[in-house]
Amino acid sequence: MKVLVIGGTGYIGGHTVKELVRRGHDVSVLARGVTRAQLPEEVSLVTGDRHNSQDLARARSLNVNAVIDINAYTREETQAVINTFDSVISRFVHLSTLSVCREIDRLPLVESDALVTDPTAGYAYDKAECERALRWAYTTTGFPFVSVRPAVVFGPRDRISRENYYLKRIVADDPVIVPGTGATPIFAVYVKDLAEVLANALESEGVSGAAYHLSQSEIVSINDHIANIAQIAGCEADFVEIPARLLERLGFNLQQFPYYTGGRIVVCDTGAATRDLGFEPTPYLRALRETIEYFLALGPEGQPSIEDRFQPLIPRQRERTLVERYRASTSALEDRLTDQWLNEAMPGM
Ligand SMILES: NC(=O)c1ccc[n+]([C@@H]2O[C@H](COP(=O)([O-])OP(=O)(O)OC[C@H]3O[C@@H](n4cnc5c(N)ncnc54)[C@H](OP(=O)(O)O)[C@@H]3O)[C@@H](O)[C@H]2O)c1
Repeated sequence: MKVLVIGGTGYIGGHTVKELVRRGHDVSVLARGVTRAQLPEEVSLVTGDRHNSQDLARARSLNVNAVIDINAYTREETQAVINTFDSVISRFVHLSTLSVCREIDRLPLVESDALVTDPTAGYAYDKAECERALRWAYTTTGFPFVSVRPAVVFGPRDRISRENYYLKRIVADDPVIVPGTGATPIFAVYVKDLAEVLANALESEGVSGAAYHLSQSEIVSINDHIANIAQIAGCEADFVEIPARLLERLGFNLQQFPYYTGGRIVVCDTGAATRDLGFEPTPYLRALRETIEYFLALGPEGQPSIEDRFQPLIPRQRERTLVERYRASTSALEDRLTDQWLNEAMPGM
């Protein structure tokens, strides 16, 4: 198949392009040329900006049969691509996110659950708007879209890696702060599994107009995830749960903390993706090992991680100082309360 990958030089796009080439597709990529990338030599790069209609028209003139859109973040971006490719392609695969699902008091999340409609939700709302534009196009003109909604995507080359966030601290013997509780599960999917599903979505029959959730099968707590990363790195993890409210008051941006949801548990049903798109997740520990070994080989400190994305960036030395003071204070408080309460219960003892 002749396929255009919009945003095919980045993290997820790079893995997807590799998978498409492995399957023998004829692949072109649209990107501005800002992100440094090593595309396979069979792949042609259309250097252009998706916000520029002339660049989109150049991409259209390639006469592709299908498009995979990796990096649409707004309704306008998706609409421009619909306008460009409507009636000339047989499949359009949109990379969405599990975040488009509105918070509900039932688990697991299923694809028919309502989408976010609150504009103040930022990223989640904007990505939901992309899906609404696609659904409208499907209903009105039969635009043949498939939407893939992954949980957090982890793996080699991740430019906002949660795993490398932990790894940097673990190998440096620094404490790892977990806001609130680390008993909540991570919600993640391996990037190579996502790339396979995006490729399968091109090739599968009868899936136009559908959305699919993706997440690994295993339920793993944040604390166990940190311990597993440490074990792969051959180290011990020193992690400490600190109330989220306290961290916020101390100036931390809670978004820097991997898998932090404020206590919300995110679990989705992936049955539809398994049935229709051949989703077969790599076992969690194998995927994690490949990821951690990638970062260890390159040196974790020199590689990006989630905290680089969020301001303010609190220096790691401050984290260490905070943890030391927090531990000393909570231990002193526990001693004081114990003495006080035992004394009240048994005066004179
Ligand atoms: N990471 C996660 O955990 C996760 C979870 C769920 C969903 N997602 C989805 O994954 C997508 C991000 O994928 P990624 O991590 O692979 O992104 P990425 O590494 O930042 O790569 C972005 C790609 O888009 C290209 N690009 C950026 N701006 C462009 C423009 N104006 N015109 C043309 N090309 C442009 C970049 O190349 P140039 O810079 O050279 O243009 C690059 O090829 C988003 O749609 C996000 O919603 C991510």
